[in-house]
Amino acid sequence: MSNVTVIGTQWGDEGKGKIVDWLASRADIVVRFQGGHNAGHTLVVGEQVYKLSLLPSGLVRGKIGVIGNGVVVDPCALMIEIDRVTAQGLTVTPETLWIAENAPLILPVHGALDRAREAARGDRKIGTTGRGIGPAYEDKVARRAIRICDLAEPETLDWKLDEVLLHHNTLLAGLGADTFTKEELKAFLAEITPRLLPYSCAVWDRLDDARRAGRRILFEGAQAVMLDVDHGTYPFVTSSNTVAAVAASGSGVGPNSVGFVLGIAKAYTTRVGEGPFPSELYDAVGRTLGERGHEFGTVTGRPRRCGWFDAVLVRRACRVGGVSGIALTKLDVLDGLEEIAICVGYELDGEKITSFPSAPGAQARVKPIFETMPGWNETTAGARSWAELPAQAIKYVRRIEELIEAPVTLLSTSPERDDTILMRDPFED
Ligand code: GDP
Ligand code: IMO
Ligand code: MG
Repeated sequence: MSNVTVIGTQWGDEGKGKIVDWLASRADIVVRFQGGHNAGHTLVVGEQVYKLSLLPSGLVRGKIGVIGNGVVVDPCALMIEIDRVTAQGLTVTPETLWIAENAPLILPVHGALDRAREAARGDRKIGTTGRGIGPAYEDKVARRAIRICDLAEPETLDWKLDEVLLHHNTLLAGLGADTFTKEELKAFLAEITPRLLPYSCAVWDRLDDARRAGRRILFEGAQAVMLDVDHGTYPFVTSSNTVAAVAASGSGVGPNSVGFVLGIAKAYTTRVGEGPFPSELYDAVGRTLGERGHEFGTVTGRPRRCGWFDAVLVRRACRVGGVSGIALTKLDVLDGLEEIAICVGYELDGEKITSFPSAPGAQARVKPIFETMPGWNETTAGARSWAELPAQAIKYVRRIEELIEAPVTLLSTSPERDDTILMRDPFED
């Protein structure tokens, strides 16, 4: 019996939320350990659709949800989300939601700076979600973040606010954006404190008790390895590490608690925002994938860029992410395509290369080398067993396994919770 850590292996939106919700029936506690409300996870359970950004997907199953210290918490976004899921019938109380008291807050200055910087970048923008994620992580590393535990200490808040304002107002003024007053931020914090503080606790301590009691923990990653601040397509990345190792430091458990690492990969590739994407399609097939896969960002509503499965990038994500097995999602979106391609290598300035370069200029110039195979006419949508899959779809899955050098242990064939095929239970590994 092991814990399980779920991470994305492409550029996000692989269907992590659906898989975490499905696996949560086998877990006791579900933990978010990085990212913030830049994440958007859609869960479909019968007639109900849940859209979660900050809340761990396990709450939908009535499991304990944890927001670890590695997450940056926007208190307003959190309260709006709690109100929304409560209206949908879920119960969120300090007994079912534990938030790390040492988690840093996202303040209004962070969103303002994120958006002002993106506007100033013009054509060179990153395409962030504009939610203040980058500036909030910068403040954490710069040792000026306001953390949840500070809300209980007015004297600490007072000097920390001075430091935050000195830094951010200087930048905002330089960028020609509106600045903030101390009174504004104080009023903001005073309003959210009574609702937020009751959820805060020593998450590391409670998780340690849970581990000793033999309870199963499911760690829920947000974003994906290609958006990781070290291993992704830098600078077109998010501001946190997204690899499985961070499940430990981002929640306060030891690295041996990470357990089975389940990488989630879409049967093709999508990306929101700017940055290199070698297997991107600009033709009718790309549009078909986007329409059939309903590829619109959950957070910003932006259309997602679509392309073929990039086996080189997913193989790399599996290696740096420590992936033990893959959940392959959205296989159904490929139903009925005459031919399917997989990116198996690249060409850079006329030379064949087998791994993705690190420098942004080279990343942008890389051309994909595709391998093609026939598609299938039968439908895989809603399949719940391997036996229901057409032979050609099975061949496609087997080829992906070979290329990425990792086993496919789960398959997903629709947005619906139970349209899932289990080959190997990660909790039993
Ligand atoms: P996440 O950010 O990784 O949790 O993924 P998102 O929820 O942002 O995006 C995945 C989208 O695909 C959601 O709308 C899901 O409901 C949907 N989805 C998940 N798995 C499947 C699948 O196997 N087939 C289809 N057609 N849709 C899926
Ligand atoms: P989930 O968890 C897809 C992208 C943004 C942008 C870049 C930086 O739903 O998979 P940020 O606001 O984080 O500074 O933006 O990262 N991005 C995501 N793309 N899915 C996500 O989360 C993402 N979170 C951030 O589009 O390109
Ligand atoms: Mg998403």
